[in-house]
Amino acid sequence: MMSQGTANLSEVYPLLPFEPVAGQGVHLKDQSGRWILDLYGGHAVASLGYGHPRLTKAINKQAERLLFQSNLVTVRIRNEAADKLAAFAPEGLTRVFFVNSGSEANENALRIALQATSRSTIVAVEHAFHGRTAAAAAVTWGAENRWYGFPQTPFNVKFVPRNDIAALRAAVDDDTAGIIIEPVQGVAGAFDFSLEFMKATRDVCDQNKAILILDEVQTGVGRLGTPFGADLYGVQPDLLTTAKALGGGFPCAALLMTDALAADIGAGSMGSTFGGGPLACAAIKTVLEVIEEDNLLLQVQEISAQIKKKCVCGPITSMQGAGFLIGLKTVPRAASVRDALLQKGILTGTSADPHVLRLLPPFILEESHVEYLAQTLEELNSEPLQ
Ligand SMILES: Cc1ncc(COP(=O)(O)O)c(C=O)c1O
Repeated sequence: MMSQGTANLSEVYPLLPFEPVAGQGVHLKDQSGRWILDLYGGHAVASLGYGHPRLTKAINKQAERLLFQSNLVTVRIRNEAADKLAAFAPEGLTRVFFVNSGSEANENALRIALQATSRSTIVAVEHAFHGRTAAAAAVTWGAENRWYGFPQTPFNVKFVPRNDIAALRAAVDDDTAGIIIEPVQGVAGAFDFSLEFMKATRDVCDQNKAILILDEVQTGVGRLGTPFGADLYGVQPDLLTTAKALGGGFPCAALLMTDALAADIGAGSMGSTFGGGPLACAAIKTVLEVIEEDNLLLQVQEISAQIKKKCVCGPITSMQGAGFLIGLKTVPRAASVRDALLQKGILTGTSADPHVLRLLPPFILEESHVEYLAQTLEELNSEPLQ
């Protein structure tokens, strides 16, 4: 299972000890021909798994017809993807702006909130992850010690503790442009908020004329078993960002907004060369169609319930999260459980919490895969893990 980098790649990522050369369904094939059950989905991206015939066909067909055109011209597939996404999204989020990454979507959302309110503070939540670009990193917990590295944040930021409604109320005032929150904190280890706290974010924004931004880069497009986390909690945002699962592996992201906010945005105030490219839009439209036509939201709900029922075993003591964004609490270090599982042919992920292992599987996962995971976790009981 060895894998090696090259001296020409920056050594930013510690490499896992295998090299995937192909993928099919929920499995990856490595160099030696071994198949690995992928419960990590390339950081929550592979929503339809690998080699999905409809997705690959849609991308190929679009590549043959029109590989690229900019946002200066009408491209029918872009309109169709926007219509499909707006119909899939919570009611009221009628306007779509396509970009390329979660960070870029958040960057634009934060700017809109600050400009629309003419205020200068954003309230974020401790342990949040919103990306590595300047504005997104400013609202990312602990970023200054890791990758933020800019001499100052581009606006004021206040962090509030998770689930602390009193602290949230105290933090938001007439200088608050908006609150940004992930409905389930992904990188933090699939931490799910109380319903009361999520509802309070909306109330506090209404009371202070601030804007609620839901960062659904990781939770969106069905990962929680509902179209978005906004639907799971019944919380209506003013701005919603999404990426990862959206293109099923084709790089893309989107910012969704209300008509009211869209009306404030002047021509030329946002832009993106590649955002909304035809290939991305063909992927987005197809991913959403497959989720609906193959009833994948229900599948995520049902298989997630199976995971929660059957996989609290071996080194796992409990679980948090929702749908297919699940945090498995481990007694040994999560990294050692991940490594042991990988040895046995199952790929999982770690998180910012050293004792939480993350599952972000494709939405096509089935019961037999859950049984294999449960059985493999049981087997780890007899292994010395740190
Ligand atoms: C909740 C959340 N927001 C934003 C981002 C940044 O997205 P990207 O890496 O596409 O810029 C991530 C990435 O993990 C994320 O999980």
